[in-house]
Amino acid sequence: MIIAVDGPSGSGKSSTARGVATRLGLRYLDTGATYRAVTWSALEHGLDLDDTEAVAARARALDLGISTDPQRGHFTADGTDVTEAIRDPRISASVSKIATNLEVRAELIRRQRAIIDAAQPTGGIVVEGRDIATVVATDAELKVLLTADTDARLARRKAELAEGVTAEQLHDQIVRRDADDATVSEFQVASDGAVTIDSTHLSLEEVIDVICRLAKEAEAAP
Ligand code: DC
Repeated sequence: MIIAVDGPSGSGKSSTARGVATRLGLRYLDTGATYRAVTWSALEHGLDLDDTEAVAARARALDLGISTDPQRGHFTADGTDVTEAIRDPRISASVSKIATNLEVRAELIRRQRAIIDAAQPTGGIVVEGRDIATVVATDAELKVLLTADTDARLARRKAELAEGVTAEQLHDQIVRRDADDATVSEFQVASDGAVTIDSTHLSLEEVIDVICRLAKEAEAAP
């Protein structure tokens, strides 16, 4: 079983995908974290992020460790624990440059598919990102596009971030980043058979309930 959860920043997709995986006893893959880990490594190596060849070579060389435990997200890059470092605003500010590098995408999509395949004998996986239903796992049994209006997304991200974040930083993390990310054509579009859930007026538990119900239906379908 593969459940794809795509959506923009602040749509609640990480908490939702983790909650669904926990409730259904599935593995969990945060694909955004793979782009963040490459960004972290490129900056550690002092690379010019506009040097697409050098960044792509870094992505191919990177030893990336990814935990698929929905309760305990854990990432290593070349042996360093980067679980917290990849959430730093410095990474959020630069990650779109990495995510729009097509050679990096090809490399990370290859790795994401390997993780998805490895999870199948254990029952399946919930995969969250931007292009899961359209590119990474087009054969997913359930495809969810999670949306929320911009004000709701800004409010949620504000609650997640440390105190003292400025309105400008918040705007950068949500609106500017979505606009940059949207230059990759297969992003966040409703693919064949995808269910769009607008979470603006729903609680996290309500969204998880809907997806779990849809997953049971998808599983029962011939
Ligand atoms: O979901 P997030 O904020 O952790 O994602 C980090 C960045 O990675 C974001 O700028 C979009 C990009 N991304 C992507 O290009 N493809 C994905 N499947 C997931 C995230």
